[in-house]
Amino acid sequence: MTAAVSSIATVSVEQLSLTIGRRRILTDIDVPPVQRGEILAIVGPNGAGKSSLMRCLCGLLKFQGELRFNGMPVPPLARHRRQWSPHIGYVPQDAGIRAKISVMELLLSAQKTHGHSLAVKKEELARAEQILTQLDIAHLAQSYCPTLSGGQMQMCALAQALVLTPSLLLLDEPTSALDLRHQSRSLKLIRNYVRTQDEQGTPNAAAIVILHDLNLALRYADKVLLIDDGRVTAHGALPDTLTLDVVGKTFGVEGEYLMNSKGDKVLVVY
Ligand SMILES: Nc1ncnc2c1ncn2[C@@H]1O[C@H](COP(=O)(O)OP(=O)(O)O)[C@@H](O)[C@H]1O
Ligand SMILES: [Mg+2]
Repeated sequence: MTAAVSSIATVSVEQLSLTIGRRRILTDIDVPPVQRGEILAIVGPNGAGKSSLMRCLCGLLKFQGELRFNGMPVPPLARHRRQWSPHIGYVPQDAGIRAKISVMELLLSAQKTHGHSLAVKKEELARAEQILTQLDIAHLAQSYCPTLSGGQMQMCALAQALVLTPSLLLLDEPTSALDLRHQSRSLKLIRNYVRTQDEQGTPNAAAIVILHDLNLALRYADKVLLIDDGRVTAHGALPDTLTLDVVGKTFGVEGEYLMNSKGDKVLVVY
């Protein structure tokens, strides 16, 4: 069975449609292959279907159409999230952490879900400490999860996903509750994680990230997929795909591109 594949090198989707009850949520969605080392940003207006698409990709919603890992179709029975854990690191929108444990315990127990021994190994502790430091939240290690702020919880949910070294990251608005410093810190870490290569030169992971801030997409993603009213309206490399015309039609806003002092294109909306 396809689910025996030990890691995910590419993910793609063909003609994905989703109906919930009598409502058509997504229609004929194509996502060309996202490779390891790449970040695909999904953008679109509220209610466009972005979160629903991500829930389809990680096996939480049943859909029509083809999901492919490594170019091979994943049959409907093999799409369930449990089959691909821990290869997929999924952080839902507004990820709440209900566990009544500390942040460090959360990261250690995440690493135990897929192993056998309950004793904490040195490398598991080191991995948890490393992720917390990289995300600039080492000071939260002993904090009790239910007492965290929304932004702190979002950072910890990201740490929980990264600690398992997944080969596919699916992040639904991972920066929505973060201050400016942590927005760029998280996205930089995600980009570094995705691009870091093993000894054979294989990058760690592919990432699909839903973002509202188009400038964050421009800065950190390689490609973009625009969804409007359940359909793909544009797809391609950044920044070329996010033309003012496309942005205007999708979001109903006017704006212009300016060049910042670092030579990067920045979108300014009037
Ligand atoms: N479980 C559900 N049952 C019925 N409608 C749903 C369900 N989940 C999402 N929807 C509807 O699907 C549309 C897309 O939702 P969502 O994927 O959350 O959009 P986005 O993430 O782009 O804001 C919305 O109109 C939402 O109301
Ligand atoms: Mg959403």
